[in-house]
Amino acid sequence: MSAAALEIHISPDVLDAAMIADVRTGLSASPKSMPPKYFYDAHGSDLFEQITRLPEYYPTRTEKAILAANADEIAAATSMATLIELGSGSSEKTRLLLEAGLRAGTLHTYVPQDVSVTALQQAVDELGVEYPGLEVAGIVSDFTDTTASIPQRPQRTVAFLGGTLGNLIPAQRAPFLAGIAAALRPGEHLLIGVGLVIDPAVLVPAYDDAAGVTAAFNRNVLSVLNHRFGADFDPSGFDHVAVWDAENEWIEMRLRARHAMTVAVNDLDLTVSFEAAEEMLTEISAKFRRSGITEELTAAGFDVQRIWSDADDRFAVVLAERR
Ligand code: SAH
Ligand code: TRP
Repeated sequence: MSAAALEIHISPDVLDAAMIADVRTGLSASPKSMPPKYFYDAHGSDLFEQITRLPEYYPTRTEKAILAANADEIAAATSMATLIELGSGSSEKTRLLLEAGLRAGTLHTYVPQDVSVTALQQAVDELGVEYPGLEVAGIVSDFTDTTASIPQRPQRTVAFLGGTLGNLIPAQRAPFLAGIAAALRPGEHLLIGVGLVIDPAVLVPAYDDAAGVTAAFNRNVLSVLNHRFGADFDPSGFDHVAVWDAENEWIEMRLRARHAMTVAVNDLDLTVSFEAAEEMLTEISAKFRRSGITEELTAAGFDVQRIWSDADDRFAVVLAERR
């Protein structure tokens, strides 16, 4: 089988330059931080797929059940000819939407988009075999670059699933959602999956599982820095920490140094010191209320048409139309 080509909308040079700037800024800041998109090298994408199957990680299976129950209604409400999915990863749940669009007879093209080349290539190759009648055109880009990530195509629905919106801080979300609206024409749609605010007793274990897969995923960002920039982080010198921030209504993922240490980031000529128990912020996963996500989408230029959720109110799938 020949591999379908991906359209690459980030040049390696620009990516390196942006990553170098991000790493420098993040490791020099107080508190230290690291942008989440650097979790997803090939190993990170594999670990994320393992997370989606953990007993504690309810988001994936909950969202999948919501999509299974409502995919035909989504296809009918959108008349989607093109489905563009931002941060598509393995496109596992998306198959439900693809099949509904094909059943409805409107869907011709699927555009999966991701920053992880390995995850995207594998998904595109599998989908090409599974759905021979569907055009599959993968795009490698940073989804916050909405112009590069949302190509001109007939009757588009943009899907953004998995609660990934919550991995952006509010100050990043507003311009990102406005960018999606600006890329769409009136009458096109955005389908977005968000985690809802729930009992921290259920929420926290989803980000701190007993088997330690999420801990390995979090520490993997240090291995990425070791490989990319010749750093000498010892990932086992850091504990995975997940805390519910009740005021901001987000889960905060951190890496906590087990002891004082000095790390050399050789390729960047950077030396970074950690005090014992010092924490580096690696990711937030914000949870939403219906009112909040409705306000954010309305402010960005969308009309919210439907909000589906599960019986336990843990996750919501929101359908919005470009005004
Ligand atoms: N949509 C899938 C995967 C969610 S995990 C699901 O619902 O299961 C988040 C995905 O977004 C990963 O595949 C990751 O590689 C991708 N991602 C994270 N930050 C990104 C960015 N800035 N630009 C593009 N893709 C990004
Ligand atoms: N979009 C996923 C979420 O917010 C990403 C994720 C799941 C994640 N588990 C994680 C990110 C652990 C960092 C660490 O649920």
